[in-house]
Amino acid sequence: MNSFIIFLIFVTISLSSAIKLPASFKRCKSNDMTCLKDAIQDALPKLKDGLKDLGVPSLSPLVIPKMTIGAGNIVKLVQNYENSKCYGLSDSIVKEVSLDMDKGKLVIDVEGKLAEMNASYTINGKILILDVYGSGECMIRIEGLKGQFTLDLETYIKNNNKYLKGTNADLVLHCEQATFQFDNLFDGNKQLGDNINKVLNDNWKQIYEELSPAYMKSIAISLLNLTNKLFSKIPIQDMFLN
Ligand SMILES: *[C@@H]1O[C@H](CO)[C@@H](O)[C@H](O)[C@H]1NC(C)=O
Ligand SMILES: *[C@@H]1O[C@H](CO)[C@@H](O)[C@H](O)[C@H]1NC(C)=O
Repeated sequence: MNSFIIFLIFVTISLSSAIKLPASFKRCKSNDMTCLKDAIQDALPKLKDGLKDLGVPSLSPLVIPKMTIGAGNIVKLVQNYENSKCYGLSDSIVKEVSLDMDKGKLVIDVEGKLAEMNASYTINGKILILDVYGSGECMIRIEGLKGQFTLDLETYIKNNNKYLKGTNADLVLHCEQATFQFDNLFDGNKQLGDNINKVLNDNWKQIYEELSPAYMKSIAISLLNLTNKLFSKIPIQDMFLN
């Protein structure tokens, strides 16, 4: 083989095996939590619209194709949501980051002013003692957020490079206020619909406490999906400075 062909093969292999983190992303040593906190804070708005070249979907809206929430004690109905769009996560303030590569754990403490989810819903069941059914568009808004995103990590080798992979994700978000709006309840009977929305909003605290673990699990799984798209493209050696 002549040297030009060897050169071409070499270039092809290096291109396919080592996509770099976009230059605008800050890089840190994996044990430098102060740097990581700034780097993640800096990355959030850059992830807002996603990274087309790397196949990373948008962080805001974060799209959840399908979500089913089981019946609880107050909200005794199964809720099916489709095409949920969550806005606001890219505006989060990163308060603290802890990354333990040996234990495979990333924990990010966040705060935020506001997050909103718009979705198509279908529900049928009871809220407290009231019969409720309907399908249409809905909006859930939370304000004054404080919480934690946790990611379990493992590493694997691909084409002689080591990569990170998230195996599980959890999200806990407490809020100071939640607002619910379900349009078109009772096939569009406005009076009955307004009444149910008022019940939901008058009891937002208990309702949010009951429903949020299931909402947050769905959001966490979408965040895991997004993170893994990024992790699968960038070898660990190119993600961190050490
Ligand atoms: C979400 O729904 C609310 C209430 O219907 C609406 O005011 C808002 O504009 C929607 N947001 C987006 C981004 O579509
Ligand atoms: C994972 O992300 C891809 C886009 O990169 C999207 O098409 C898919 O629906 C996502 N899956 C979930 C469960 O969010």
